[in-house]
Amino acid sequence: MPIDLERRGPVAILTLNRPEALNALSPALLDELEERLDGIERSADTQVVVLTGAGAKAFSAGADIGHMQTASALEARSYARRGHELTGRIEEFPKPVIAAVNGYALGGGCELALACDIRLAAEGARFGQPEVNLGIVPGWGGTQRLARLTSPGFAKEMILTGRPVDATEALRVGLVNHVHPAEELIDRAVAMGDQIAAKPPWTIASAKALCNLALDGDLKGHLAREIDAFALAFTTPEQREGMTAFFEKRTPDFSGM
Ligand code: CAA
Repeated sequence: MPIDLERRGPVAILTLNRPEALNALSPALLDELEERLDGIERSADTQVVVLTGAGAKAFSAGADIGHMQTASALEARSYARRGHELTGRIEEFPKPVIAAVNGYALGGGCELALACDIRLAAEGARFGQPEVNLGIVPGWGGTQRLARLTSPGFAKEMILTGRPVDATEALRVGLVNHVHPAEELIDRAVAMGDQIAAKPPWTIASAKALCNLALDGDLKGHLAREIDAFALAFTTPEQREGMTAFFEKRTPDFSGM
């Protein structure tokens, strides 16, 4: 199963479970994540969700490059929309979602964490928006949510250079709330979940929705522009070169393009 579900009292732990591909977010994985969220939304027993990745290496290495490599702009647009639906749903989910980032959170993996309410990181976690290395732009909300969470300048540095940041730097810029030893990460996330779950569910849902308003601005309009720019990248030779180079395990050559 691409998603594991474990219940610890009022906290549901959802684990992205494709460790052989560093928990890359394939369409099948997204489908199952949506189904799990449906069940949790209906369940009166679950008050908080913890989202993490299987294995020691990755929370998620992002959107599935194999799925995107030969995608047309229209297919890319549909994949971006799919990611936006999921990240938007997490952001507006009536129960708080805590990301427990246990390794790489890159591209769509970082964007998934950005959509969560609170981020806890293991000491070895690494966050990045490396899309420019693939000849594309972030397509699941990163161009908007990263700047809102950190600062416009820091977000631009991450997105324009593609440089990953470690957990210490992520803590310094406000990308994560706390950093914990890897072996304590899930217990710490569940403990925070238990603390939230002890409050009345309606007040928690209401407080979350109100906090979201503080960041809204024209988020929805700007997110729609991101989908268009992501799709447009798939009409370029840079996207083909970037994704081919990834699977050939070499540095892309964008010269003369
Ligand atoms: N999609 C599909 N497969 C992926 C993947 C991804 N995003 N990331 C890793 N994999 C696969 C690799 O192809 C490899 O498979 P094989 O064993 O079959 O060769 C396996 O996972 C292990 O990966 P590596 O061998 O590359 O592991 P590594 O330790 O050498 O490197 C890494 C780890 C630095 C995270 C590297 O895997 C990497 O750079 N991954 C891609 C990260 C990335 O560019 N993410 C952004 C995707 S685009 C996106 O997300 C757009 C968006 O906004 C929606």
